[in-house]
Amino acid sequence: MKKLTILLLVAIFYGCKTPSSQKSVDEIDKKVDSLLSIMTLQEKIGQMNQYNGFWNVTGPAPNEGDAAKKYEHLKNGWVGSMLNVRGVKEVKEVQKIAVEQSRLGIPLIIGFDVIHGYETQSPIPLAEAASWDLNAIKKSAKMAAKEAAAAGINWTFAPMVDISRDARWGRVMEGAGEDPYLGSVIAKARVEGFQGEDLSNPLTIAACAKHFAGYGFAEAGKDYNTVDVGTSTLQNIIFPPFKAAIESDVKTFMNAFNELNGIPATGNTYLQRKVLKSEWNFNGFVVSDWGSIMEMTYHGYAANIQNAAEIAVNAGSDMDMESYAYVNHLYDLVQEGKVLETDINDAVKRILRVKFELGLFDNPYLYCDETREKEILGSKEIQDAALDMAKKSIVLLKNEGNMLPLAKNGQKIALIGALAADKNSPLGSWRIAAKDNSAVSVLEGMQQYKGNSLTYTKGADVYNGDTNFIFEVNINTSDTSGFSEAATAAKNADVVLMVLGEVGYQSGEGRSRTSLDLPGVQQKLLETVYQANKNVVLVLNNGRPLAINWAQENIPAIVEAWQLGSQTGNAVAQVLYGDYNPSGKLPMTFPKHVGQVPLYYNYKNTGRPGPKKEVFWAHYQDIDNEPLYPFGYGLSYTTFSYSNLKINSVANNKVSVSVSVTNTGKVAGKEVVQLYLQDVVASVTRPVKELKAFEMVSLKPNETKTITFTLTDKALGFYDNNGVFKVESGLFKVFVGGDSKNTMNTEFSLP
Ligand code: GLC
Repeated sequence: MKKLTILLLVAIFYGCKTPSSQKSVDEIDKKVDSLLSIMTLQEKIGQMNQYNGFWNVTGPAPNEGDAAKKYEHLKNGWVGSMLNVRGVKEVKEVQKIAVEQSRLGIPLIIGFDVIHGYETQSPIPLAEAASWDLNAIKKSAKMAAKEAAAAGINWTFAPMVDISRDARWGRVMEGAGEDPYLGSVIAKARVEGFQGEDLSNPLTIAACAKHFAGYGFAEAGKDYNTVDVGTSTLQNIIFPPFKAAIESDVKTFMNAFNELNGIPATGNTYLQRKVLKSEWNFNGFVVSDWGSIMEMTYHGYAANIQNAAEIAVNAGSDMDMESYAYVNHLYDLVQEGKVLETDINDAVKRILRVKFELGLFDNPYLYCDETREKEILGSKEIQDAALDMAKKSIVLLKNEGNMLPLAKNGQKIALIGALAADKNSPLGSWRIAAKDNSAVSVLEGMQQYKGNSLTYTKGADVYNGDTNFIFEVNINTSDTSGFSEAATAAKNADVVLMVLGEVGYQSGEGRSRTSLDLPGVQQKLLETVYQANKNVVLVLNNGRPLAINWAQENIPAIVEAWQLGSQTGNAVAQVLYGDYNPSGKLPMTFPKHVGQVPLYYNYKNTGRPGPKKEVFWAHYQDIDNEPLYPFGYGLSYTTFSYSNLKINSVANNKVSVSVSVTNTGKVAGKEVVQLYLQDVVASVTRPVKELKAFEMVSLKPNETKTITFTLTDKALGFYDNNGVFKVESGLFKVFVGGDSKNTMNTEFSLP
């Protein structure tokens, strides 16, 4: 077809701008079908090909090696998406090549890991989950989308919705913890935050539920390791947050590096075609995780890269991230009849549909506005949202003698710990677009309060040299030369504030640990300082649960401050000084010892729950079965009491439960009222308790509110080993309280 004819066709085809809000699915499908009808097979395959940024786009075009080849592919229209191209300038450059130099001018979709913020970092997702504040979490995602979109990004590889019970796994920082219900409602909040009401709004971006599926169950908490789980865990623990993301119309999925029960997720037809695209009727597209198609040769599941391409596309992986498998082999595989062009067409339609919904066909440069970029990146609105989210993510773990909040005047405070002055670590590990040293440190936050005298000493380095996204952190395991100065500072202070924990790059991808202790010499530093002054407040900066037994036994006040992002120091200071009363609750169990892991609240009773005098019951010889801090746990500067727990009605699988909560302390506070159920006898064993509802309630001193929960099938039922959802009659126990352990209990029966 002559170029002119094609351009005419394309112009007619794309030119009809319809106001995005009226764009119906049918209209888009018609456009997709029309476009597909004029695409060559290689152009279709091009849409399934995603490249990482491969040259300095503001410099000359690459003229040798792989980069030159990729550049040719880009010009030919054989690239559908790019990732890690950022900033309007760069995005515009690559988009121009794709749109203005290729035959059909199909725009790229530009992806990026906007995991908890783009340039401005909100708290790591595990910290955000600790807020249990779905509105705040949704807003945090909305702000991240706004900032990323202003920088030219149209697609984030988030939310990561992998449930995990294993704090050794570095990527627990990236998810919403151990519970499928909390993980599901947070998945919905984050998808809706990223995608907004209208995806073609240039300040919203397509979301991506990842990693499908089972990645958080890597054996021994070792990243990328084998995953072997039963149907009940898959259906009732792993799948729900992915389903929740689809209920919020998530546009894309990302599969996982791991094998699931012997089949790599990327080549897993059961997962991608049977469950996701057929049973769940997902109409978006699946992108492979980085290189995971090629990695099936390492798994021993594909004989070579051609075979990997064949397996992956036949199993329903629609886009190839950085394996170069599709762009180099799919054409021949179709000619050889090993891959059907109809399956190619299906994948391409899914990809094109999202690009239409993003408005990229109406205007490929919709996200490329440099003025808007300057106005929005790092704006006060976004920083304020990050601060709000950070304060709400903080969990008060201990406050003996109401040591907190700190007095605002007349105190000599010794601030100790390298992390207290660290302006990078609080940004977490997924901070690719953040500016270096851009976090407000705890030291800077505390310096905002002028009424006390504040001295700072490092005490000890947490690590040596530098840290980055790719290489191991070199932990300081020997240099204690700063201890004596720290002890002296502590001795001369009224209160000691210690900021200890993990460096930002000690959690995240590829960052599994076999220990959950404070890394390096920090435990020794803590004990040394405590000997000098027992009035210690420990502020944790960490990306995973830590087994801080000694601290729990000895330190009077402990605050879980995770990695809170750009506004860390301001959030920590406002909580420590009581300008914000902490309301966070743990989204993941803190074990007493790594040997207890995986340790989680929704465990099964087993046939030998014990305890018994004899040894023949489910236990360890050396540590009890209890956690250090249970799921859902978190204190406040006030106290709450629960009363009047009652079952109001049980009818047609709808149960009404109410409880009264009173603020019995002296300051206003927020409590997350949690409701757990146990289906006592069922055709598949059920956990001793499962979170089924929660509500955050704000109470003034002496104020009482009554909360009523209505439980329906979704809360009462479970998936059996055939994946069938069922609600069964019989006894249900109800547990209501401020965490998963300390609860009021009642029960009801379903007829
Ligand atoms: C990484 C991660 C995935 C991320 C992708 C792109 O390896 O597993 O979560 O979105 O590659 O950076």
